[in-house]
Amino acid sequence: MNKKVVISAVSHYVPDKVLTNFDLEKMVDTTDEWIRTRTGIKERRILEPGKATSDMAAEAVKNLCKQRNIDPMEIDLIIVATVTPDMFFPSTANLVQEKAGAKNAWSFDIAAACSGFIFSLSTGAQFIKAGTHKKVVVIGSDKMSSIVNYHDRNTCVLFGDAAGAVLLEPSEDDELGIIDFLHFVDGSGAEFLRMKAGGSLNPASRETLANDWHFIYQDGKQVFKFAVKKMAEVAVDILKKHNYTGDDLKLFIPHQANLRIIDGAVKRLGINYDQVMINIEKYGNTTAATIPLALSEAYQQGKLDKGDLVVLATFGGGFTWGSALLKWGLDNPVKK
Ligand code: UT7
Repeated sequence: MNKKVVISAVSHYVPDKVLTNFDLEKMVDTTDEWIRTRTGIKERRILEPGKATSDMAAEAVKNLCKQRNIDPMEIDLIIVATVTPDMFFPSTANLVQEKAGAKNAWSFDIAAACSGFIFSLSTGAQFIKAGTHKKVVVIGSDKMSSIVNYHDRNTCVLFGDAAGAVLLEPSEDDELGIIDFLHFVDGSGAEFLRMKAGGSLNPASRETLANDWHFIYQDGKQVFKFAVKKMAEVAVDILKKHNYTGDDLKLFIPHQANLRIIDGAVKRLGINYDQVMINIEKYGNTTAATIPLALSEAYQQGKLDKGDLVVLATFGGGFTWGSALLKWGLDNPVKK
């Protein structure tokens, strides 16, 4: 990138309602011990009925504007990464534009499952880099509870609801900002993680309802095998490409799908756990929201200083996977 793009604010929103492993023990044949040891998750958040993905996203945008001290009317573009849009159309980003009072922004959604945030970050950055836009908001927001079958122990223990958002602006300091992206797709992975009905292939019908095809379907083992390899690879490769090693890394922010997948990447990177942001125990897998949520918490907790080297990495349905390398551009808000 010739002109650097910087994250100039980061925020998140999580619903108040907590669903613990012990609550799930009463709903399906599972145990807190199984969930913790196989995934690292202790609890997740659940959005109240009547609220949707756009409501969480709009809250994250309002928090973002407060943090950056800007009026939402200054935003030029809103991109929402989600697999749980409020509805098929209009796009969730349009609803966020209205709810956040960002009437000067145009907007659209990107569907790339757990890679949605990184793919959207890459897309949004191009508009700043091109010089046509000054303030682009990129959001990852998913109400996973709306597509989870709470009778299916294979999936219901894994997911939660949340939103995270970043503001992208041209960097005033050429040393700070986004350095590079890597993104990949292997469409042959579609069969292992998907929602079988509701689209043009299998429109909603009595049969699709009876077969539970409107919920997430995942072949966990197949996805795990691919995820553990590819998320580590894409994190290592982006560092290597720019002649960095794990030692140079201040913070690794991985997609939070399973602690064992994160462990694999940590090993491959050769880094310590104080160089990794992990919050899966509190939120589970929030799909497009995991990375901006983890980034926002890391920032709030004072884990990032101006100039720190950060890698974001993800893997998800599609299959999709990718990473971003950046030099953090904000001062540490936590006084030491
Ligand atoms: O974010 C998008 C990308 N998604 C991922 O990266 C997820 C990748 N996959 C995974 O994280 C893991 O495969 C899971 C956490 C989904 C499953 O863990 P696993 O170690 O692969 O378990 P498994 O599917 O091989 O199941 C082992 C056993 C099975 O019993 P049998 O067949 O051995 O008798 C399952 O029925 O564990 C059983 N099991 C459960 N037991 C208690 C599956 N879910 C549960 C559960 N509680 N919730």
